[in-house]
Amino acid sequence: MSENLIQKTVEFVKDKLHGAEAGHDWFHIERVWKLSKKIAQTENCNAVVVELGALLHDIADPKFHDGDEELALNISRQFLENENVSEEIIAQVLLIIKNISFKNRSEVSEIPSIELQIVQDADRLDAIGAIGIARTFNFGGFKNNLMYHPDIPPVLDQSKEEYKKSTGTTINHFYEKLLLLKELMNTETGRKMAEERHLFMLSFLEQFYKEWNAV
Ligand code: ADP
Ligand code: NI
Repeated sequence: MSENLIQKTVEFVKDKLHGAEAGHDWFHIERVWKLSKKIAQTENCNAVVVELGALLHDIADPKFHDGDEELALNISRQFLENENVSEEIIAQVLLIIKNISFKNRSEVSEIPSIELQIVQDADRLDAIGAIGIARTFNFGGFKNNLMYHPDIPPVLDQSKEEYKKSTGTTINHFYEKLLLLKELMNTETGRKMAEERHLFMLSFLEQFYKEWNAV
């Protein structure tokens, strides 16, 4: 395992994500990496696994690769093997990449490691609050979805397939995912940070409806 493994991973990820949608680009990874390091300080964990997991977690998001759920695992394994990372570390990093996603949350079969829980909290924090709002509208625009439609209600308890196919509005995504995340936080530090971001989304929605209705 080379001394500057983390730096090499940063370069690899930056290069791979060149031109990615703004909500899933290098800066999303950088924020998740920083949040992961912050949460890791308050937990008993393997810091290298946390950093590698954070850096590689969106290396090939299935929703931008025809639903291919193996690609990110293959790309990551190949990169880590090339860097002579031990099989033990590789397995822990791949477990993070495989199980981090919100839409797969009902089918996680492996026991979540503390490292997975940390990176998952960091990824969820970046999905809520001001950044979360910005990312969500960016993604909705990228998909050409409506911002809001008063007659299209959110669909709660969507199956994974329904969630992926969703052509709902961006405002509905708040009810289908973003507002649910606070309750799903794994760590104490993550939970505390989610609180403020959650409240900010609630006040955003209140203001949004007010302006929509010309109040
Ligand atoms: P995960 O990668 O954790 O499974 P998603 O792919 O559902 O999570 O979403 C990642 C981010 O992409 C969301 O937090 C949100 O910002 C954006 N996003 C995903 N689906 C939608 C949608 N239908 N409308 C608006 N934004 C979305
Ligand atoms: Ni992510």
